[in-house]
Amino acid sequence: MKPIKEKFGGRLAVIWAMAGSAIGLGNIWRFPYLVGQNGGAAFILIYMAAVVVLALPIFLAESVIGRRSGCDTFGAMNKLAPGSKWKWLGLLTVITPMILLSYYSVVGGWSVEYFFKACCFSFDGNTQGLFARFISSTWAPIITHTLFIAATAAIILLGVKKGIELFTKITMPLLLVLILFLAVYSVLLPGAGKGVEYLVKPDFSKVTADVVATAMGQAFFSLSLGVGTILTYASYVSKKENLMISAGGTAFFDLLFALLAGMVVMPAVFAAGIRPGEGPGLVFDTLPYIFGQMHSVAGGIVALLFFLAILVAALTSSISLLEVGVAFLVQRRHGLTRQKATILLAILTWLAGILCSLSFGPLAHVTILGKTFFDLFDSLCSNWLMPLGGLLFTLFAGWKMSKADVRDELTNGGSCNRTIFGVAYFLIRYVAPVGIVVVFLTNLFL
Ligand code: PFF
Repeated sequence: MKPIKEKFGGRLAVIWAMAGSAIGLGNIWRFPYLVGQNGGAAFILIYMAAVVVLALPIFLAESVIGRRSGCDTFGAMNKLAPGSKWKWLGLLTVITPMILLSYYSVVGGWSVEYFFKACCFSFDGNTQGLFARFISSTWAPIITHTLFIAATAAIILLGVKKGIELFTKITMPLLLVLILFLAVYSVLLPGAGKGVEYLVKPDFSKVTADVVATAMGQAFFSLSLGVGTILTYASYVSKKENLMISAGGTAFFDLLFALLAGMVVMPAVFAAGIRPGEGPGLVFDTLPYIFGQMHSVAGGIVALLFFLAILVAALTSSISLLEVGVAFLVQRRHGLTRQKATILLAILTWLAGILCSLSFGPLAHVTILGKTFFDLFDSLCSNWLMPLGGLLFTLFAGWKMSKADVRDELTNGGSCNRTIFGVAYFLIRYVAPVGIVVVFLTNLFL
């Protein structure tokens, strides 16, 4: 194993990088339509609970393993549990992010297309069917998927400090300003009040076991858990940093963004008199229609800023996915150079992504277990591989590592967080694993 030389420079750099991974399409594209489909504010409350009791402990478990070992996912398992079967967890979490990146980058490509469209001010009131036509065509989504993967690879090629750290340090504060502006704009639209009400008034009659499992799954996805990204980023965190603060800070910003994205989308949707339970097309279908109806330069600019925000958020997440595999290939004893590793993995995910892209068009009829490639990859990752990775990481930190080592990492040798360590350890050891098993069983039987 080769030692990692690069480290993130300081607390804010760590939080921006981790928040960059967490804040993405899951917040701006997925969260608002899940809220729309699952009972508004009731879903938000359950989601918040899931973040605290389920997601944060897994985040801490990954952080502990990553920083303690200072290695990629596979190297971490070999270092902390040499010669054991845990190496399979290391391998699993190299493969999962590659599968995830292959379809994530297709949706990232859609945001490239919509950003370009917004740059040309091409949303008019007549956007009916635009989204369906675009994703079902053959070449256009492949071209935008290619651009998206190329941009991701370009940032990773620059390295941990000059690539990941610099990019997230510049774009994340910008993203915060953008989303705040958009939320204020949306809330002030005439007729937006109903959308705000929808977000703050819980309807518990809609809550079922499935809704709870969906909220838990979203917490996983949104905080980038069970895939090895947080572990890999934590291996770049210096021993001085407080891991509980970076976890709490990341969860805070992630939640803030999801809520702000809801504040952008829902009021606009209600203002335009559209139903909120629209599903995955909510952001790409409904919002251009709304912007187009404004028939004004302001509408065009707002559309441009909105799709810029989605694009940037998607990129800061996709780089964290690619970095997991690159760190793995670079850190082997006879590892590849960063350049070769990045190019190799970018090409592999690009090829797999083409299959996902075509599943909305020419390959729509090709199904495995009744699912298209895109749906298969998504359900494989979201419903199975991510929870499995998360479960195994919590078991590793809670049961395989010694309590003294975990305490040492979470309290920086006893110098901080001493009083809350007990609670955090209890959540890692018992609560999170049980919660994940519940998600599994719900996915299996519902
Ligand atoms: N958290 C990202 C989002 O909400 O869009 C998605 C994601 C990124 C999941 C990185 C997993 C990951 F490792």
